[in-house]
Amino acid sequence: MGREIISIQAGQAGNQVGAQFWQKLCAEHGISPSGDLEDWAQETPQGDRKDVFFYQADDEHYIPRAILIDLEPRVINNILASPFRSLYNPENIYVSKDGGGAGNNWAQGYSAGERVYDELMEMLDREADGSDSLEGFMLLHSIAGGTGSGLGSFLLERLSDRFPKKLIQTYSVFPEASDVVVQPYNSLLAMKRLVNNADSVVVLDNAALTRIAADRLNVQDPSFVQTNQLVSTVMAASTTTLRYPSYMNNDLVGIIASLIPTPRCHFLMTSYTPFTGDEIDKAKSIRKTTTLDVMRRLLQPKNRMVSTTSTKSSCYISCLNIISGDVDPTDVHKSLLRIRERQLANFIPWGPASIQVALTKRKVGVQGNRVSGVMMANHTSIASVCLFVLYLEYSS
Ligand code: GTP
Repeated sequence: MGREIISIQAGQAGNQVGAQFWQKLCAEHGISPSGDLEDWAQETPQGDRKDVFFYQADDEHYIPRAILIDLEPRVINNILASPFRSLYNPENIYVSKDGGGAGNNWAQGYSAGERVYDELMEMLDREADGSDSLEGFMLLHSIAGGTGSGLGSFLLERLSDRFPKKLIQTYSVFPEASDVVVQPYNSLLAMKRLVNNADSVVVLDNAALTRIAADRLNVQDPSFVQTNQLVSTVMAASTTTLRYPSYMNNDLVGIIASLIPTPRCHFLMTSYTPFTGDEIDKAKSIRKTTTLDVMRRLLQPKNRMVSTTSTKSSCYISCLNIISGDVDPTDVHKSLLRIRERQLANFIPWGPASIQVALTKRKVGVQGNRVSGVMMANHTSIASVCLFVLYLEYSS
């Protein structure tokens, strides 16, 4: 029995990131853009739990447990004009009839949420009732615009009211130094809901994504398509243990419990290595990966998808590495010893100073390199990103 997760994508960033996330999941599970199973995926390998993120229609084709919401039609129209147009359930798409967007205004997004509350809840209830054992919700949005931020905030409040026992995880895009004067205010108002109403927030910082695209992929001025490839790769990798479960971290609560020691400290950062041509168009494989190499690179600040200002005293509260590929558990043990000897990771003195490692099999649909890994970490320097949002407010 699956522990299903319903994803909600709100606004431009949410829907663009979401569209690439679903493309990635389809490629990994062998699901075609129309939802049918590819020939190679017909014989389901043991342990492939598609039902966490997809359900099957009467004719057995797969449909994402996704709800697409926007107050302007452009992005959703693009999705509906792509080869993946028939993947989504049309009943789960909400586009506002006046179509003007929220004009980068948090309050407009929030009040639009109040107006269409019944329609949105109808979709959420239908999806929730269609799951056997719903584990929670995943909200994809940006905190700087009007829709993802305002309507996203509204949804966070109402979801935690209506489904108090279900987990809420968000993948939240944080802005770069903003060109629109109200973005910091939108961010601040959304931050309050992320603090109060979410169980876990994965911070994706546009400044860091642009830096990684420049350093790793040599793309100086990356498009959203390219930054979203980075984001969707991390999202897919961080959900591998849910989709290909082993004995640990195979549900969201397991991951959250191991990373979040106290409920309010729930802002997480991620890193991923190595990006290859499978994930990102411009990336090239330049090295032979080993477990130690991957685990060491995951700890390097330059690979983090968040631009933090680390000080000497900043440290890890908890850290989970999900390693995919041909990995021998003894290599993991050796790598952990090496990392400890070289003191590559600083931990808080009041908790278990250890990196947790989950191994997953190589994904069948992906050619990928030998070993790849994603890190999800609770690090004290995340506070500097939240403070940056505050700073932007005062400086604007
Ligand atoms: P309205 O446009 O006001 O209706 O709200 P919205 O939620 O649609 O706004 P949007 O998602 O465009 O939020 C603006 C912020 O998100 C800015 O900081 C953008 O840089 C960022 N952003 C927009 N689209 C993308 C995207 O596809 N990927 C990433 N990483 N960031 C995005």
